[in-house]
Amino acid sequence: MQVIGVSGSPRNNSSVDKLVKLILENLNNYNAEIISLKDLLINPCKGCLGCLKTNQCVQKDDWASVEETIRQAELMVLGVPAYYGAAFGINALTHNFLERWFAFRHQGLKLNLRKVILAIVSGEGHGEITAKYLKTFFEMYHGVEVVDNIIASGTTPCYVCGFGEHCAVSAFLHRHGEGAKITKDMIVPIEKQTSVIENIKKIKLTDG
Ligand SMILES: Cc1cc2nc3c(=O)[nH]c(=O)nc-3n(C[C@H](O)[C@H](O)[C@H](O)COP(=O)(O)O)c2cc1C
Repeated sequence: MQVIGVSGSPRNNSSVDKLVKLILENLNNYNAEIISLKDLLINPCKGCLGCLKTNQCVQKDDWASVEETIRQAELMVLGVPAYYGAAFGINALTHNFLERWFAFRHQGLKLNLRKVILAIVSGEGHGEITAKYLKTFFEMYHGVEVVDNIIASGTTPCYVCGFGEHCAVSAFLHRHGEGAKITKDMIVPIEKQTSVIENIKKIKLTDG
């Protein structure tokens, strides 16, 4: 089975990157290619319909360098950070990437992809919303089954920005209230999130 990982995090060594790697390793795909969207310039779909006849986007950007890999993959582990999760579910980098999949949807579906595993990192508990939006994207628009969602906790910027204990719009303040202190144990790295590791071990890929 052709397997790829994709990370939609704009940050270096991010939690999303780590989660995608852990899932691939658990599936014994240690050497699977991981596409890091932060290294690519992928513009939004222009709605020009230039892809209608060829199923290939006419824009000249880095989409062209990943299009064939995506088309050929049978299983994808997609890593996504929840940015403005309650409103949008996913971040803009991931959104641009997925919007360009429009080119695969003319005169039938032009994809080998059968299964997706979602690797979602959310700082403020919006992972389920992200999972719901992405399930709709894959299953309703692309006929691809989402076989599992692995949702991990990420670090909300308000916990590390230096103003989180007092800032009026701080997610930390909102959650813990005035007077609470940010402590190191509130930030748990992905590999130490035991329920996440257990859920990764439970991933089952049934044939068909
Ligand atoms: C611009 C921005 C907006 C964010 N909005 C949300 C949000 O609405 N809900 C949420 O759960 N986490 C939110 N977060 C926290 C991210 O989910 C978390 O920092 C990220 O997923 C950590 O992953 P990373 O280490 O791969 O960057 C936001 C982070 C940023 C930078």
